Amino acid sequence: MKNLSLLAKMAVSSALAAGLAPALAAGCAPKCRAKCAAYSSKCGAKCSAKCGAKCSPKCGAKCGAKANAKLIQRPAGYKPNYPITPATVAAGELVFKNTKLSSNGMACATCHTGGGSYQKSFAMPFPHKVEMAAGTYGLNSIHLDEAIQMCMAGPMAAKPFDWKSPDLANLVAFMTEEQKKFAKR
Ligand code: HEC
Repeated sequence: MKNLSLLAKMAVSSALAAGLAPALAAGCAPKCRAKCAAYSSKCGAKCSAKCGAKCSPKCGAKCGAKANAKLIQRPAGYKPNYPITPATVAAGELVFKNTKLSSNGMACATCHTGGGSYQKSFAMPFPHKVEMAAGTYGLNSIHLDEAIQMCMAGPMAAKPFDWKSPDLANLVAFMTEEQKKFAKR
């Protein structure tokens, strides 16, 4: 009996791995499914919206699920305090160029130098709709600091900044200046 139930278990798990999972997760790339599976085997098979929250935002989006918006949203009661001075802008530029912030060798500057990789939305006052935030997190309007956190979690494949981080504050100062330049293009 003991052996039988073990066999039954093996049959179920191999069915999940071989046949059932791809059927359930249509549209979810195998690589992505494997990543989801690292969180929970159930999750990998289904790639449901719930599962998307547990997967990396990129993977969740590929599975057709929305990632957990809390990852990039201002925490409750958050009071933004981002002084814009020549010193904070200069410090922010260094953060913008720092490849060590990402896990993939990228810096913000890799994509965004000279106004690159933005859509027209960047010229509008924040908060506003950013396609990537709507598509990945289901958020229809985000603040500048949240857009920064979105790029940390997504393109930079890194942990978003601590909300008290001076790097985040300085980056907001620098990005505010970048936005002014972008709007004039
Ligand atoms: C691999 C390229 C890449 C990297 C690296 C990257 N981003 Fe982005 N960023 C994008 C793309 C693509 C968008 C989305 C444009 C959209 O959907 O409108 C975007 C959007 C943004 C926006 C919102 C623009 C708007 O429309 O309001 C801001 C702000 C931003 N990024 C800042 C940053 C910062 C700061 C960093 C570094 C921490 C960074 N990005 C790293 C590609 C990148």
